[in-house]
Order: sequence, then structure tokens, then C-alpha cells
Amino acid sequence: MSILVTGGAGFIGSYLVEELVRRGYAVRILDNLSTGRVENLREVPEGSYELYVGDLLDPYDVREALEGCSTVYHFAANPEVRVGYQRPQLDFEENILATKVLLEEARRQGIELLVFASSSTVYGEPTQIPTPESYGPLKPISSYGASKLACEAMISAYSHYYGFKAVILRLANIIGGRSRHGVIYDFIMKLRRDPRRLEVLGDGTQRKSYLHVSDCVSAVLAAAEHCSEGVEVYNVGSRDWVSVLEIARIVIEEMELSDVRIELTGGVMGGRGWPGDVKLMLLSTEKLESLGWKPRLSSREAVREACRELLGEL
Ligand SMILES: NC(=O)c1ccc[n+]([C@@H]2O[C@H](COP(=O)([O-])OP(=O)(O)OC[C@H]3O[C@@H](n4cnc5c(N)ncnc54)[C@H](O)[C@@H]3O)[C@@H](O)[C@H]2O)c1
Repeated sequence: MSILVTGGAGFIGSYLVEELVRRGYAVRILDNLSTGRVENLREVPEGSYELYVGDLLDPYDVREALEGCSTVYHFAANPEVRVGYQRPQLDFEENILATKVLLEEARRQGIELLVFASSSTVYGEPTQIPTPESYGPLKPISSYGASKLACEAMISAYSHYYGFKAVILRLANIIGGRSRHGVIYDFIMKLRRDPRRLEVLGDGTQRKSYLHVSDCVSAVLAAAEHCSEGVEVYNVGSRDWVSVLEIARIVIEEMELSDVRIELTGGVMGGRGWPGDVKLMLLSTEKLESLGWKPRLSSREAVREACRELLGEL
């Protein structure tokens, strides 16, 4: 039986495919290449995976890609939290509707395991930090977070109805080479355009957990391997957090720039970078660590490593 990775040509998905192939699995990818790129798969030996260029919103594409697969890693989505305020329908379509099509086909074909890339944004603005998986009520403040929570709920119901196992992974900010969104990529592009000034969205005090993509992939696989029945939910993040201003300083240092003027926009709704931006995020990873997983890098180390990787490829 093969493994299907939706969004396998994207940032996290391509590293996941690489590791699954390295471990000897037959891997199939379904990706519409909207933000994914075939070149992300250049490290994966040719012939060791199948790429279906197709859309999750099209049941025929999903049916074809899923045929003969017992496990699905569902990583395709609109990954940009920031666009939700202007275009909430994107989260409805690319996240909720796409997951609905996948679940219907998964039910029809009788898969055994579904692993879902959810997000820390499902917690909204929790009063408990570090936030454990048991925290509630969950009150997302972005349409992205809301769409991920809706997907989690439907996956749970389908798992119960149709008897497949499910692993829900609430990912912190995942960073590393090949990423084409998020704060580090943004800062690098802005500084390439104008090395004398750096605009920082918000009041600069946003503080969050960042995890290197290599640690994310090892977490995803550890969680998937340990799922014996029902639905399991895991937080995936590093043990510490870093502020957006510290990230700005690390990027400036890594680009070997001096005299850069950092300009804070002040932000919206109490210093947020954009409507729906969660200002403080740190996840409790005790549950995942009880499986034997631990992150190789801290948030700061991950930011520096991701910055170096991106500078090497951009
Ligand atoms: N990067 C992060 O910090 C982060 C944090 C939390 C959760 N996540 C989740 O992890 C997953 C991967 O994110 P990423 O950062 O690698 O983003 P990405 O944009 O690099 O990957 C998403 C992939 O899905 C594909 N895709 C999108 N819509 C599709 C559709 N309708 N049909 C087929 N393919 C489609 C894209 O082409 C892309 O290859 C997403 O579900 C995202 O929401 C990411």
C-alpha cells in the first residue's frame, strides 16, 4: 500500500516526502502546485514517488490519487493566516471544502490512517501558556484557525463513523529552507529590496514558538507511528519562544547588514501584525515528548538555521 501526501510539493510536505521515501515507503503526492513547486522535490530520487498534479477540490483527482493508499498525510491547504481577513472564503474552500472532499474519498476507499496538519491557531488566544492539547474552549481569532478547527472536528467524526485512525497535529510556526511565506521570508525579501530599513508589522512584542522543519517532520512521523486507535491530538512546537523583534535582529545579523532602521507599524487591534494575528503562542509539547520525540533546535536556533537556509537558496 502507498502513502498519499496532499500538498507534498509544498514546504513541509516536500521534507515529509523526502523522509518517507528515505524510510522505504511508496509515496504518492497530490498537489495543485498553487504554492508548491516541483523543484522542492529535487532531493527525492526520481522514480521513488508519484506526483499527481491535481486539485483536492476535484473528487476525481482525489479518487485517482487515493487509490491503493492506506495512509494519508493531509498537508495541502491555504497556509497563509494573514489573508483571511480580506478573503475568508479562501479558508472555507482550500481548507474546509478540500478536507471534506478528501474525507468522502477516504471513507469510500477505506483508508486506515489520516494524519492532519492542523495549527496552533485553533487555540485563539489561550489564557494558559504553554497551552496543552486539553485547553478549551477553543475560540480561534482567524478564519484560518477556525477552518483548521472545523477540519479537526470533521476528521474526528469521520474517524469514529468509518473506523480509521486519525492524528491531528497542531503545528506552531514551522520554518526552514523552501518556505515561501512567514516572517523570516518576509524580512529577507524586504531587506533585499531596501537594506537600510525593515518594516515590522505590529508593535514588535508578538512572541511565538518556532520549530525547524526537520524537527517538525520527525514529530509528524513519531506521532503517526504511535497512533494505535481512534483520534490523537498533539501539539508540535519548540519548548521556547522568540519575539518578532528578536527575529528581525537575527535576520539582519545573518544578512551581515548594519545601520538598519527597524520601523514598527504599530499594528492593529492592540499591536497585532494583522487582524487575526495571535500575539503570544507557546505550546506544551509534553504529550509529544512522552513518545520520545524532542526538538533538535530551540526557537532562536531554528530561526538562525532557517535564515541561513533561505539566504542560501533565494
Ligand atoms: N508553515 C507553517 O508554519 C504551518 C503552521 C501550522 C500549520 N501548517 C499547515 O501545514 C501544511 C503545509 O503548510 P506549508 O507551510 O508547507 O505550506 P505550502 O503552501 O508550502 O504547502 C501547501 C501545499 O498544498 C498545495 N495545495 C494547496 N491547495 C491545494 C489544493 N486545493 N489541491 C491540491 N494541492 C493544494 C500547495 O500547492 C502546496 O504545495 C498546511 O496545511 C498548513 O496549514 C503550516
